[in-house]
Amino acid sequence: MTTHTPHDGTGAPWGAPDAEPKIRFRGVTRTFDLGREEFVALGGVDLDVADQEFVTIVGPSGCGKSTMLNILAGLDAPTTGEVTVDGVPVDGPSPDRGVIFQQYALFPWLTVRKNVEFGLKVAGVGAAERRARAEHFIDLVGLTAFADAYPKTLSGGMKQRCAIARAYAVDPQVLLMDEPFGALDALTRVTLQEQLLQTWSQERRTVAFITHDVDEAVFLANRVIVMAARPGRIHEIVPVDLPYPRTEDVRLSPEFAEIRNRVRHAVYHQQAAPAA
Ligand SMILES: Nc1ncnc2c1ncn2[C@@H]1O[C@H](COP(=O)(O)OP(=O)(O)OP(=O)(O)O)[C@@H](O)[C@H]1O
Ligand SMILES: [Mg+2]
Repeated sequence: MTTHTPHDGTGAPWGAPDAEPKIRFRGVTRTFDLGREEFVALGGVDLDVADQEFVTIVGPSGCGKSTMLNILAGLDAPTTGEVTVDGVPVDGPSPDRGVIFQQYALFPWLTVRKNVEFGLKVAGVGAAERRARAEHFIDLVGLTAFADAYPKTLSGGMKQRCAIARAYAVDPQVLLMDEPFGALDALTRVTLQEQLLQTWSQERRTVAFITHDVDEAVFLANRVIVMAARPGRIHEIVPVDLPYPRTEDVRLSPEFAEIRNRVRHAVYHQQAAPAA
């Protein structure tokens, strides 16, 4: 029987029991001022994510998933509480945290290769090394034949693979992905999920990945963080004790179905929060 950890994201889930978490949320709230009233987007989030862990975040629309990720990215700040990475408080964006959004944010005037090289150029990496690193990651996401193509000539899935290569190229410690496959068809999605895991197994990073798709959440993760709304909070954390590589056999296994059903239940049958 796996451990059931409702309402509690703390504690070391992965690695040594007292290992310092890579990412730590402590009492994180975020309220938005709506003029006459305040809207509580996050009502107090505590979460530890271990180094090299892959967590997925699911929950109803508006429960604060993107708010959480934006705070972790340093694009937004908590109203109270703190987020740390390696024990250091997040106080702005950093190349150590690569962000991939749902809408492929590629530069249309640059080729795949130049898009992937962009962050390295900004970081002052020399031309030869830039090219070599870009080539490595373009190859890893299967875009070698399209290295000199412009984004407008790529399919949605190819653009997203380019965005993944670009995020990886600058060697961030943490990858933050906000519904990166949301706009793609089911078949492309499955291919990209497998490719993302393959990349992750070769280039281990800590990943936080938001999705609406429960199957996707279970397929990718070490743990699924299920959130609830009003106020946004962690509802339940479901460990996914399935082996990697996650193959089609894993996806079709009864163990996978059991975990998926549990996550579905946690997402679709949430009880109202007790009145404060
Ligand atoms: N800048 C803002 N001003 C006011 N309210 C905001 C702002 N940003 C987010 N919110 C509110 O905070 C809540 C959480 O938003 P968030 O985007 O984090 O949700 P989400 O879980 O990512 O939803 P979705 O699944 O639809 O992407 C929503 O109710 C949203 O309306
Ligand atoms: Mg969102």
